Amino acid sequence: MSDRYCVFGNPIGHSKSPAIHAAFAAQCRQDLSYEAILAAPDGFADAVRAFIAAGGRGANVTVPFKEQAWRLATRLSPRAELAGAVNTLVFDHSGMFGDNTDGAGLLRDLTVNLGCRIAGQRVLLLGAGGAARGVLGPLLDSRPGVMVIANRRVARAGDLAQGFAGAASLRACGYPELAGQSFDLVINATSASLVGELPPLPAGLFAPASLAYDLMYGECETLFLAFARNQGAARLADGLGMLVEQAAEAFHLWRGLRPDSAPVIAMLRATAVSAR
Ligand code: ATR
Repeated sequence: MSDRYCVFGNPIGHSKSPAIHAAFAAQCRQDLSYEAILAAPDGFADAVRAFIAAGGRGANVTVPFKEQAWRLATRLSPRAELAGAVNTLVFDHSGMFGDNTDGAGLLRDLTVNLGCRIAGQRVLLLGAGGAARGVLGPLLDSRPGVMVIANRRVARAGDLAQGFAGAASLRACGYPELAGQSFDLVINATSASLVGELPPLPAGLFAPASLAYDLMYGECETLFLAFARNQGAARLADGLGMLVEQAAEAFHLWRGLRPDSAPVIAMLRATAVSAR
């Protein structure tokens, strides 16, 4: 029987993870199956246990279960510990190992796929929720010159920065305080686009040659990327590359092999275009 993997989420119907992992498995000649499992809002732990009992070897975890997975894991990687969220689980005889590959996925998309330099640059992270928390550690590890977290509820941005105290370049603020500042890289980690909104961003945020990156992706340009385009950001990227890269990192954890993500990103882009 093939080794079984899955992604847990709610909703999960439109997840691209099964297609991504099927492509990785074919590329690396791995005999595995990967399915999407819809867990009830209060049924995540039961769903995980049932999957393990049925022979599951590992799982990805998406909205809204990443914090629950963090609590459920019997061991955590340092990066998952810091992120307060788990997106990858490995099941073995010693229990449930929880990791978080989101930040590494973003960094790989930024630096390898998009050729973006972070060291010494001015970086702005919008949002202070779970998504922002997941990527902040790896961003700081890349040694930006200035790293600002801006959030609607300023106290939440402050709390997030506190968890990374010691990073000299890190500052937290509200949106109005961004007026008059510009950045080389602006990353949208808010969930505002989900409700058709945009954080109240002042004009002039995008430095010449800047990159605007939205962790969200969809068939249409997100509101944030449309704003960035109008504001003169030199380059725009959505979160599809990060999605594939975090999956590649999870695949590596499970199978010890690193798939080539470029053809998989290209396949998903082509599918999205033909679905329009
Ligand atoms: P996630 O796990 O997706 O990060 P979350 O923890 O609920 O979800 O966090 C959502 C983030 O999006 C928060 O930073 C939130 O700002 P607040 O903390 O001030 O609520 C941000 N957000 C959501 N809708 C927003 C909007 N319309 N404008 C600005 N920020 C928004």
